[in-house]
Amino acid sequence: MTTCEVSLRNVAAGYARRPVLRQLTASIPTSATTAVVGPNGSGKSTLLSVLAGVHPPTAGTIERRRSSRPCFVVQRSAVSDTLPLTVRETVSMGRWAHRGPWRRLTAEDRGVVDHSMGRLGVRELASRQLGELSGGQRQRVLVAQGLAQEADLILLDEPTTGLDVAARESIASVMRDVAADGMAVVHATHDLAAAKESDHCLLLVDGRLIGEGKPRDVLTDSALREVW
Ligand SMILES: Nc1ncnc2c1ncn2[C@@H]1O[C@H](COP(=O)(O)OP(=O)(O)O)[C@@H](O)[C@H]1O
Ligand SMILES: [Mg+2]
Repeated sequence: MTTCEVSLRNVAAGYARRPVLRQLTASIPTSATTAVVGPNGSGKSTLLSVLAGVHPPTAGTIERRRSSRPCFVVQRSAVSDTLPLTVRETVSMGRWAHRGPWRRLTAEDRGVVDHSMGRLGVRELASRQLGELSGGQRQRVLVAQGLAQEADLILLDEPTTGLDVAARESIASVMRDVAADGMAVVHATHDLAAAKESDHCLLLVDGRLIGEGKPRDVLTDSALREVW
C-alpha cells in the first residue's frame, strides 16, 4: 500500500491564451521517486511548477498530505550559475522557509545546514561559489538545500540533463536515498534509463497524461515508439 503525497484531480494549467495541462488526474506517492517523462513541450516543467505551488492551476484540485513548503530545483540555467552565492549560503537558504529571509540562523539551523551538506557529500565545498561547481555538484547542493528546508516534497526539473554518467548515477542515488527517508521525489526527465529506475512514472504528451504507474508498465517499447 503506498501513501499518496499529492493527488491531482482534473487539473488544468497554462499560460495566457496557451492551455498546457488538461484534465490531469494523477498521484504522487510518498517515500518514492516519481519520473515525469514526455517529449519537449509536453508540459513537464509546467506540471512541476504547479506541484511547487508557483503556478496556479486554472481548474481542478490538488491535495497535499503534508503542509511543508515544497522544494523546487528548477532546470539548470545560466543565471543561477552566476549568482554570487557560496554553497553554504545556498543550502542555508533552505532555512528561510522556517526563519524568513535575511534573519540570523540559529545554532539549530546551522546544524541542519551542516547535516544536509554532509548527507549530499558537499560539506568540503561549503565555501566555494556555486558558479565554480560542476553540474553534478551543483545539483547535489540544490538537493541539500531541499533537505535543509525539511521539505516533504522535492521537485527536480531535468536534474541530470547535461551531466556525465557518474554524476547522473550520483543524483539518482541521492534521489533514492531521500525518498527512502520519507520524501516524495518528483523529477522531470528525458533520460529513459533514469525514468525506468524510478518507483512511479507519469507519461505526458501534449499536456495530457497518457500513462501512470510502474515505469516497466508505462514506458513500454510501443508507448515510447508512439510518443517519440
Ligand atoms: N512562460 C511561458 N509562457 C507561455 N508559454 C509557455 C511558457 N512556458 C512554457 N510554455 C509553453 O507550454 C508548453 C509546455 O512547456 P513546458 O511545461 O516547459 O514543457 P516541457 O518541460 O515538457 O518541455 C510548451 O508549448 C511551451 O512553449
Ligand atoms: Mg521542461
